[in-house]
Amino acid sequence: MNLSLQIQQIAAETLENLYQESFTVSDFQINETKPEFEGNYTIVLFALVKRLKKSPDAIGQELGQTLIEKHPELFTGFNIIKGFLNLTISDEYYKSILLRFNNDVCFGKHPMNGKKVMVEYSSPNTNKPLHLGHLRNNFLGWSVAEILKANGYEVYKSCIVNDRGIHICKSMVAWQLFANGATPESTNTKGDHFVGDYYVKFNDAYKKEIAEGIAAGLSEAEAEKNAPIMKLTQQMLVDWEAGKPEVMDLWKKMNAWVYKGFDVTYASIGSDFDKIYYESNTYLLGKDTVQKGLEKGIFYKKDDGSVWIDLQPDGLDEKLLLRKDGTSVYITQDIGLAMQKYEEYKIDKSIYVIGDEQNYHMKVLQLIAQKLGLPYGNDIHHLSYGMVELPSGKMKSREGTVVDADDLVDEMRNTAKQHTESLGKVKDFNPEELNQLYSTIGLGAMKFYLLRVDPKKKMIFNPEESIDFHGFTGPFIQYSYARIKSILRKEEPISTPSSFSSPLLPLEKKLLFELEQYPQILSTAGNALDPSVLANFLFQLAKSFNAFYAEHSISNAENEEKKQLRLALIGMIANVIQSGMQLLGIRVPERM
Ligand code: ARG
Repeated sequence: MNLSLQIQQIAAETLENLYQESFTVSDFQINETKPEFEGNYTIVLFALVKRLKKSPDAIGQELGQTLIEKHPELFTGFNIIKGFLNLTISDEYYKSILLRFNNDVCFGKHPMNGKKVMVEYSSPNTNKPLHLGHLRNNFLGWSVAEILKANGYEVYKSCIVNDRGIHICKSMVAWQLFANGATPESTNTKGDHFVGDYYVKFNDAYKKEIAEGIAAGLSEAEAEKNAPIMKLTQQMLVDWEAGKPEVMDLWKKMNAWVYKGFDVTYASIGSDFDKIYYESNTYLLGKDTVQKGLEKGIFYKKDDGSVWIDLQPDGLDEKLLLRKDGTSVYITQDIGLAMQKYEEYKIDKSIYVIGDEQNYHMKVLQLIAQKLGLPYGNDIHHLSYGMVELPSGKMKSREGTVVDADDLVDEMRNTAKQHTESLGKVKDFNPEELNQLYSTIGLGAMKFYLLRVDPKKKMIFNPEESIDFHGFTGPFIQYSYARIKSILRKEEPISTPSSFSSPLLPLEKKLLFELEQYPQILSTAGNALDPSVLANFLFQLAKSFNAFYAEHSISNAENEEKKQLRLALIGMIANVIQSGMQLLGIRVPERM
């Protein structure tokens, strides 16, 4: 059990015995003691004043005194400053943590809790390659899934591929019109990029036709509606839903190109899934369910035949569920998908990692699930994240200036290479080890930078800053890890003694104080679905290690016992860094 919870419990018991009043843990707010005061943890006394009708100082005196008398194994001193009781935790407590966990690679992880959760992330459309926004999405989803596992959940990682619909038909029509039979192989292009190029070509042609329509005297809306290429596309969607063989063949062929490309990207960024859903499978269940909802009067049909739900009583709008030609829209498939997820996996909670531009869509999905009386209506959780931009400005796909994920990953690797070469520390690495190292650093830099921010916040990804070996970065933590590993290699074999007799130095105690909080950090990050909590913790730990190492020698410690204690201590730091970084999806190198 983590120390601040232990303190709350002991404080509650102690006050109950002192004053014959009942207290619970929530009556005690515990903070870290401010650095200017003596102590490690602080109890806020003000909240108790009213109930006990005593001054904060009097309560603090009695509580502090009793704590050190009754629990000398935990508390060795106290002081009271302006209504705050500062408690000093015993060296013995921290030494026992060190002895117990220094070699435990599972330290911090929680036992299974019997709950199942699905985390859906990435979820691309098949008309274009992944971009910078998908990277934030993938890193976030993957990490949240791993953090939930560390919290004892049984986790299923999933992805919905939106493999059908008007957007894919656009790429397909453009390919028919402009490709002359070209393929990814014949043009030596990665499949997802190839198909994405035709999506861009569609939009160029569409724009041109609109301009021509306007020049011929049409209004803009009419020109958009009458553009021949758009009509072809709409017809193709109808043909697709009718299962017309030539359309299905083309669709299968082009999607297969895209999947081959996606696989390469996922392998390069380390994303994986336990279950991949395809909209082409989920949308029919969605359509069925809409039909049933229509019969039950939850949805209604307009004169043109389109189906809607009125969410105005819920403060939203009317929302289209089926087009007038009967074709399914984005929300239709999500209704089917939500049902499939629950039926197949019997999950307790369903998390969707989707950008905040779809907040409204997800609100609608939750409301529809509730109105349809689906048993999990309240367990659909949207993990909404903010947009990412590069320092140079926005990313837009229509204009073809999107920041491509593959390009960015390559660029990160190259930058990692330059930085590593300029340090000149890896001369004896073979080419394969070097490649591995550049990936580890380049990807680590990008993942950490994107994950160190609260997911809800929009952010700017600065590639140059992300790889600064001295900054608030992944490579700084990786470098600290490699430093520890290099110290440990020189001292092998290490045998940790069964006790340490000399007192802890302040910086030793500070490191143990931080390490002790790791299990709690994992719970907090899991409950908040926020990897940045973990990223910040790991950065602080790496900083504290470096501060410690600047002051104290390990190999030439004051005496043999100190040396052993510090070796155990840095070994535990290395384990926690490795375990925490793994939960962020980031590898740590033994040397760099
Ligand atoms: N494919 C969609 C897009 O690119 C995102 C899908 C998110 N997941 C979902 N269940 N709606 O916008």
